[in-house]
Amino acid sequence: MSLNTLEEIASYIVSEGKGILAADESNPTCGKRFDSIGVESTEENRRDYREMLFRASGMKGNIGGVILFDETIRQNAKDGTPLVNIISDQGALPGIKVDKGLKPVGNTEETVTVGLEGLDDRLKEYVSMGAKFTKWRAVIKIGESIPTDECINANMKALADYAKLVQDNGMVPMVEPEVLMDGDHSIEECFDASDRSLKSLFKHLQENEVNIKGTILKPNMITSGSKSATQADVDEVARRTLDCLIANVPSELPGITFLSGGQSDLIATAHLDAMNKIGGFNWKLSFSYGRALQAPALKAWMGKTENMFISQDALSHRAKMNRLASLGQWAEELEDE
Ligand code: 13P
Repeated sequence: MSLNTLEEIASYIVSEGKGILAADESNPTCGKRFDSIGVESTEENRRDYREMLFRASGMKGNIGGVILFDETIRQNAKDGTPLVNIISDQGALPGIKVDKGLKPVGNTEETVTVGLEGLDDRLKEYVSMGAKFTKWRAVIKIGESIPTDECINANMKALADYAKLVQDNGMVPMVEPEVLMDGDHSIEECFDASDRSLKSLFKHLQENEVNIKGTILKPNMITSGSKSATQADVDEVARRTLDCLIANVPSELPGITFLSGGQSDLIATAHLDAMNKIGGFNWKLSFSYGRALQAPALKAWMGKTENMFISQDALSHRAKMNRLASLGQWAEELEDE
């Protein structure tokens, strides 16, 4: 694969319906996932699990990029092959999460994502290790009188500063302004918080002269809060998400890859498919799912080597279903084949 420019890298990741496998859980988050199947989160177990995922046959043709955590980009497979090489051999580009997590803003419930300090040096090391793209996640909460404009602006400014530095180092920045699903808010409130976040993000990206053609957006979908008594259906989520994106995202952006944010695997696929069936936009609309790609594979694995093939089949299946959804060619009946 010879991909020389930021535009080529970004376009490759989302070409032909391909999407991204988010496997960049921090060690504590990976611990939570492993707790759910009774597996201890050791460095070796994390390596074995991820090696198994990256070797799944369904990576090829369905997954264009894999986001890694710092520990994983440095790891070798059991046979000594760097995990980065396994990913590349599957036709996917290695990416790396580079933010350093969330810091509370004063005494409030709001947070700002940190990690700009020392970022340039870290990026230079990741480039030397083969990373082609990066991720930075900003988190916006909906609640009583929040999100505030101050919180949105501080987070979006950090995303834009990060994106500029990443492009200066020759990698594609994924910008992730995640409005959390947590809470009992309405879909309208989710629309409003997402609309304000995206407006602020693209204003800051423009001010920093970030090359939009070499950037990938990783947003939430516009949904009802996970604890809301009224849950919007698939068609409403698809329409409102498209309305919000069309109002805010420049058409020259090559790809929008959604996070799953706690949606079930099937619903995340159904939403993506519904949007692509509606159409009417220029960007590729695809996936960058963590839980919605991995959940069935994790459950099938249970930490046992003898479950490796069924676990890999589960990941391959979800990867394929989501590629079809990115092309607007998914149907529920295909889930049983
Ligand atoms: P989920 O799809 O599980 O939300 O994870 C995607 C991700 O990378 C969040 O930052």
